[in-house]
Amino acid sequence: MSIHKKSVPAIFIIFGGTGDLNSRKITPAIYNLFLDGLLPREFSILATANQNLSLSEYHENIKDKVSRFSRRGSVNPKQWALFAEHISYLQADADDLNAYEEISLYIEKHNRQWKASADVLFYLAVAPSLFPVIATNLASTNLASDKEHNRILIEKPFGNDLKTAMELNGLLSDIFHENQIYRLDHYLGKQGVQNLMAFRFADALTEQIWNRSNIRHVEISVTENLGVGQRGSYYDHSGAMRDMIQNHLLQLLCIVAMEPSVGHSSDAVRDSKVEVLKSIRKFDSSMLNRNLVRGQYSEGHENGKKINGYRQELNVDPNSSTETFAAIKFFIDNQRWQGVPFILSTGKRMDQSASKITIQFKESLKPLFGIEKTIGQRSKLIISIQPEINIRLQIQPKHAEEGTKMNTDIALDCFDGKEVPEAYETLIRAAILGDQTLFMRADQIELAWETVMPILDYWKAQGNTGLIKYPAGTTGPQLAPTRHHEKRLAYCSESSVEHGNLQLWVHQILESCFAGHDYRPSLSRNKSV
Ligand code: BG6
Repeated sequence: MSIHKKSVPAIFIIFGGTGDLNSRKITPAIYNLFLDGLLPREFSILATANQNLSLSEYHENIKDKVSRFSRRGSVNPKQWALFAEHISYLQADADDLNAYEEISLYIEKHNRQWKASADVLFYLAVAPSLFPVIATNLASTNLASDKEHNRILIEKPFGNDLKTAMELNGLLSDIFHENQIYRLDHYLGKQGVQNLMAFRFADALTEQIWNRSNIRHVEISVTENLGVGQRGSYYDHSGAMRDMIQNHLLQLLCIVAMEPSVGHSSDAVRDSKVEVLKSIRKFDSSMLNRNLVRGQYSEGHENGKKINGYRQELNVDPNSSTETFAAIKFFIDNQRWQGVPFILSTGKRMDQSASKITIQFKESLKPLFGIEKTIGQRSKLIISIQPEINIRLQIQPKHAEEGTKMNTDIALDCFDGKEVPEAYETLIRAAILGDQTLFMRADQIELAWETVMPILDYWKAQGNTGLIKYPAGTTGPQLAPTRHHEKRLAYCSESSVEHGNLQLWVHQILESCFAGHDYRPSLSRNKSV
């Protein structure tokens, strides 16, 4: 990995300069890096978009957005004025070659002024349909050829399926070297995810217990309060599997499950993740009607206010079979994880927003502290990514006798109480430094698509069959306990105090899997839509 020195000047060319992503995430992140002294001394930002705006109009607009969306709140006028000197605006259409000539002149001008060759980061904060035209035009105006200094940053969705992802990778690799391509998955920049990496690999103790001998199962869950909002036209062709599981959740799974990398290069780390994706058991036809749950939110209430169901959302097909909730059980067929279920779940319009990973350890065989009741109880490690960022070891489950609760917090905080940087700050800083560890390589993207394609194809063929409705603002699809689980309902409902029905079905899936038979979701009150 070649880490460039901080002193190499940097130029950001942001396509989609007036769009949501730039306004909410990218420019606020660059501004915070500026305030933290983490940008090169010489840097410059050229925002491009097709709106006709003067530079001062653009400055006013973006200042307002940064004030609204930066973690630091309203900008300080003096600091902002210093920062704004670095921002230019170019009205341009992505398919207009003259615009690229202007970009080229802009870069040359700065290089002359700085007497250096700046690293140029072309940030595609635009709709995916524009990726090919921008990449092709960068190539034809000779803006992509400097392998050391020219980089391209691309956001998800990276393809809509394996075929389109491969096409996009093919197009990019005709133009750029892989070392120039930075595919973002913003989850990899989250501080809670960095903590997980540190926890897994910086401590020899963790390595001793991180395997099938000690771990019973792993749950990775990302729930969101919000619905699809204004993004109906995108989401209705995507759904929870494409939008969250194919990328964010599978990446989390890779970090939990990967082997320590051989060396520290970005490729070594990514090789280890790729090995995990290759080891995920393929969903063959016999597995497809089991171990999957998908749901869609229906009308509900929040704080006494009515919330639309998914099919009533703007730009959503009123008969849509798109899933807004998905849960899947994966197995990783390798020495470390053989037989350990990994349950991934995500949903929109749930009762809470929380992203966390739960590592459930195997049960104790002896009583702890002489308390018989503790036999068979299990410790768990909860890695919270958001809203809290911490790692918590729950030594004794909550239902142990009063006085024996031992929720131990492991403090993992490398910021000394300072405000935690946003994911985009971490990622943009890494891109400036030329460190690709936190970015997705072409093979990672394709293997992740390969993993979910059989499920997507199956759901497509199923249409609305098996799609379970859940009222907005609740804990997700409700499943009836199977006969096998009725005996264990006491434990289930205990868990469901914490996590609601989501936990109940996770439990059902796991119990059936440990009891040696497969789980088939059975519907309760909520019928298939
Ligand atoms: C995005 C998805 O990638 O991640 C959104 O497209 C989702 O649908 C978002 O809401 C969740 O990110 P975060 O950082 O809010 O958990």
